[in-house]
Amino acid sequence: MRNPDQSVQSAFFADGTGTSNTLILGSDTAVISDAELLLAAKLLQDGETVAFPTETVYGLGGNALKPSAIRKIFEAKGRPSDNPLIVHIADLDALNGLVAEVSPLAETLMTAFWPGPLTLVMKKRPEVPSEVTGGLDTVAVRMPVHELARRLIRLSGVPVAAPSANLSGKPSPTRCEDVIRDLSGRVACILCGELSEIGLESTVVDVTGEEPVILRPGGITLEMIRSAAGCGKYDEAVDRKILEGEKARSPGMKYTHYSPDAEVILFEGEPEAVAAEILRRAAAYTLAGSRVGIMTFDERVKIYADSGEVLSLGSLERLDQVAQNLFQTLRAFDSGKIDVVLSETVEDSGIGKAIMNRLIKAAGYRVVRV
Ligand code: TXA
Ligand code: MG
Repeated sequence: MRNPDQSVQSAFFADGTGTSNTLILGSDTAVISDAELLLAAKLLQDGETVAFPTETVYGLGGNALKPSAIRKIFEAKGRPSDNPLIVHIADLDALNGLVAEVSPLAETLMTAFWPGPLTLVMKKRPEVPSEVTGGLDTVAVRMPVHELARRLIRLSGVPVAAPSANLSGKPSPTRCEDVIRDLSGRVACILCGELSEIGLESTVVDVTGEEPVILRPGGITLEMIRSAAGCGKYDEAVDRKILEGEKARSPGMKYTHYSPDAEVILFEGEPEAVAAEILRRAAAYTLAGSRVGIMTFDERVKIYADSGEVLSLGSLERLDQVAQNLFQTLRAFDSGKIDVVLSETVEDSGIGKAIMNRLIKAAGYRVVRV
């Protein structure tokens, strides 16, 4: 896949620093030194904002116990203040200060999937500022497995609230250059690492009841949760539009998400019929003067040759790679100044459920069944 952001990377990384007042440490090839990490940890502790890599996507961290730090996160992202943040910890001990109790169900899932891409929603302790939880009586907690993230959290000595490190509404960043593009000049520090391994945000599971309820699908699938807990289900609103005035079980469900500047339209159905419809619409949009992007898979790229800016998400046989590539591909269409993206879809199960969830939201629920 082409890399449209090469120029940005060299502009920012040539001398190891950024061109704004944001401190940029490390790169996708250079290792961050202990001294640099300590500096970032100190900034966090002092209530500043620090973006850092995790195995899911990059996060924008702040001291979860400092309301002023939380406000800086919301401000930097332009995020609605009622959309709560995930609190990241490096060790189980840190849970004591955050949650009222760890139920047997929560413990089962922690044992099975922590550290890793699983966020658990539990009853909060009063010490957790309401700025973090958007006024809810629950708090979402995750223990990432990413080595740098864990070292940073541990060194800071505080729980780290961190939403994805994108401007609100944009696709989550899986590469440091995407974080720099969205947040340079808006945050104190950006720690650069490699491409995020999973590429989609963590699975968010409410464990306040008897049965785990998935509020956001991710790398830990429903099947995996059921095999660990013996039960589990999706919240009924996971993939649908939240109605005006409706109270979502997870506030994040209400907001526009993962949207590139281009309009995205999804096509579902038999592969031949999908291809025919995408080709027909691509021709019509092109005729009307729109710049067309097509998002497809390695096996099907050839079908669309010369029909627009054609980008592959990877092989249909490797949905893990499709997940890893999804957000950077959505961002690539913006760099290519595309007006409309016509996208193929994947099967709605396993990791495909998480991919489809992000695609549906990126498309603003515009799904054409052919
Ligand atoms: O993988 C991830 O989860 C990344 C990395 C940085 O860890 N973080 C992330 O955070 O995706 P964010 O803020 O972009 O998404 C957090 C989601 C939102 O949909 C929010 O509504 C939901 O979690 N959430 C947070 N606290 C909640 C709570 N107490 N109850 C229900 N949903 C909650
Ligand atoms: Mg986010």
